[in-house]
Amino acid sequence: MDARLNRFGISAAIPMSLGVALGAASSETASAQQRDEHIESLLSRMTIEEKAGQLTIVADTSRVMAEGINPEANRRKLETLLADVRAGRIGALMSGNGAAAARDTQRIAMSETRMKIPLLFAADVIHGYRTVFPIPLGEAASFEPELAERTARVAAIEATAAGLQWTFAPMVDVARDQRWGRVAEGAGEDPYLGALFAAARVRGFQGGDLRSERSLLATPKHFAAYGAVQAGMDYNSVEISQQTLREVHFPPFKAAFDAGALSAMSAFNDINGVPATGNRWLLTQLLREEWGFGGFVVSDYTSDREMILHGFAADDAQAAQLALSAGTDMSMQSGIYVEQIPRLVASGRLPIEVVDQAVRRVLSVKKALGLFDDPYRSLDPQREARELDMPEHRALAREAARRSIVMLRNEGNILPLRKATRIALIGPFIDDRDNLHGAWTLFGRKQDAITLRQGLERAGATLVGVVEGSSIETALAGGIEAAVAAARRADVVVLAIGESERMSGEAQSRAQIVVPQPQRELAEAVAAVGKPVIVLLWTGRALALQGAVRNAEAILVAWFLGSEMGNAIADVLFGEHGPSGRLPVSFPQDSGQQPFHYNHRRTGRPYTQKGRPEFTARYREVSNEALYPFGHGLTYSSFEYSATRASDASLAWNGTLSVNARVANTGSRAAEEVVQLYVHDRVASLTRPVRELKGFRKLRIEPGQSVEVAFDISRRDLEFVGPDMQWLAEPGEFDAWIAPSSTGGVPVRFTLERE
Ligand code: GLC
Repeated sequence: MDARLNRFGISAAIPMSLGVALGAASSETASAQQRDEHIESLLSRMTIEEKAGQLTIVADTSRVMAEGINPEANRRKLETLLADVRAGRIGALMSGNGAAAARDTQRIAMSETRMKIPLLFAADVIHGYRTVFPIPLGEAASFEPELAERTARVAAIEATAAGLQWTFAPMVDVARDQRWGRVAEGAGEDPYLGALFAAARVRGFQGGDLRSERSLLATPKHFAAYGAVQAGMDYNSVEISQQTLREVHFPPFKAAFDAGALSAMSAFNDINGVPATGNRWLLTQLLREEWGFGGFVVSDYTSDREMILHGFAADDAQAAQLALSAGTDMSMQSGIYVEQIPRLVASGRLPIEVVDQAVRRVLSVKKALGLFDDPYRSLDPQREARELDMPEHRALAREAARRSIVMLRNEGNILPLRKATRIALIGPFIDDRDNLHGAWTLFGRKQDAITLRQGLERAGATLVGVVEGSSIETALAGGIEAAVAAARRADVVVLAIGESERMSGEAQSRAQIVVPQPQRELAEAVAAVGKPVIVLLWTGRALALQGAVRNAEAILVAWFLGSEMGNAIADVLFGEHGPSGRLPVSFPQDSGQQPFHYNHRRTGRPYTQKGRPEFTARYREVSNEALYPFGHGLTYSSFEYSATRASDASLAWNGTLSVNARVANTGSRAAEEVVQLYVHDRVASLTRPVRELKGFRKLRIEPGQSVEVAFDISRRDLEFVGPDMQWLAEPGEFDAWIAPSSTGGVPVRFTLERE
């Protein structure tokens, strides 16, 4: 697929303004007389308490599957919760108890409340519902946004079969610091790749018809710049320039909104001292007035009340007043809107128009989803029984898992293995089913997932030893000895090591992004036996690989691949499917390099290994390059890039220039190569990144064949956010690469001419 799209990574054909998606009835820009009569009629009859209720979502804490994903806050017994529904004090539920339970609660809202406004049922369906797909970071490694659209579509089919109409996804935060555990939930360090996956996932979740019973309302989150928390510490402050906000962190959100997302979630963090949830510049001036967003904003879990802890609000009343006035329309879990809004309006501290505007937005989205016409859409227990465990969903899970695996190293082409090869299968994940799904999988059934051993055995592997050798974070008595003995009996060792799924995701920042010590000791002992070692890495982030792990003959990044993890790894190990993934995050030499990203500015003393490196941007004790760079990934073949050239030495201001290269499969197997286009602006009024991804194509090339790859470049691809916060291009010299990664290729130079 040609991933050349406009600046925000989305084709212009998709409605640019959400007003189009919602219809003029509820677009912010719609004048009063165009407003939806039905919604205005409801508003005119609602009490202030009922209005505040529509702006309130709480967790249905009888949903046992969600234990441990949120802190305890404002927990309500089911009877209290249903009483609040009857009183019109709740407009939406974080649910997940299935279609029948949701149907019963909806029936209360539609028959026992005064206004009979349908509830909205939501949950965190991040990478699958019952069928679990790779963690989003792993799926981003496929470099196939269309694959992500397909998996999001299946997630929506299953989630809406199970009584949900709204998901708090996709998470689109750009993350450049791998210490931050939530890097697992996004698409990595690059805004262009992130924008493509954000738009694809929104299209997948919402589908082509918002009113369909299989449409799941999408929520790009966490708005904004949550991935830029200082020191990779979750919930930490964000100090950031407008340019970096607009060039790096906003594009995936803009692409998601341009793809039609009708809700957004505000972030926990502050931005330069103003919490996102109370940030009027962010949520009103930028999101609505500049971008034309017509949906509604929901806070993150108690993030409105947390402005008191930020030191930005004195109490619940001020927190509610600041959040609602800034543009956070709906309050998640804290309950402060329904408690405070009536008093704030009565005391004159909050204009009723601000409340009505938020209620109008929420009701408009409920209307766009067709809930007023059919409140019970997606609440059908019969459909739930039919559509949750479909074989084609599992087949897609296996395909997505295979295509997300990244092969970092394959010394001596030890992979793929023959089935007769005697394997010692070693490591804490060999039979483990608690760490196949990854973070944020509330509804997957671990017992349904395929373990590594199961996958290898089903593939007909010759296992001469299956030994845990170590637990994930602790040593196992006798484990290393047993593992060494197994290695001695084998031709090769397959070593499944890495992070548990609890070591990434929310509130899982790590100071050292390494394989836990006991597993490293296991790897050293096993490697000392002298047999080739193939490392399979369970991980929710880029890791700093060390010692025997780093020096293994072969390394496959397996992320957390979901329900079909064992089968997918076996497919790749034995060559049924060649590895085709590429790194969406840079693997560093050392944890100390964080934050690290390929698209960094040059500095006045750029790191070089030529000449006298000491007076350059470097560390004394470690190279300041990636061990494995963004975009890197090997296949079971080899490729040669040649004849990189530009169609012209100059690009006219309003013209297009083509950059071409020939890519040849010089190996003996067909394989899929991700051919990447990078550009660099050599001189500009602001210093520019040494490279920026501007396009890629994943191409299957037969052995001995070669293909001509061409990317068109226009001025739009060369723009950046200038000193006045506007996107602009500047005439001058540029370099372009067509390459297999962010450090490969040969540059070709061209000049952007003056207007
Ligand atoms: C969490 C997360 C957010 C999630 C929400 C509801 O704290 O930050 O991503 O959607 O609460 O679970």
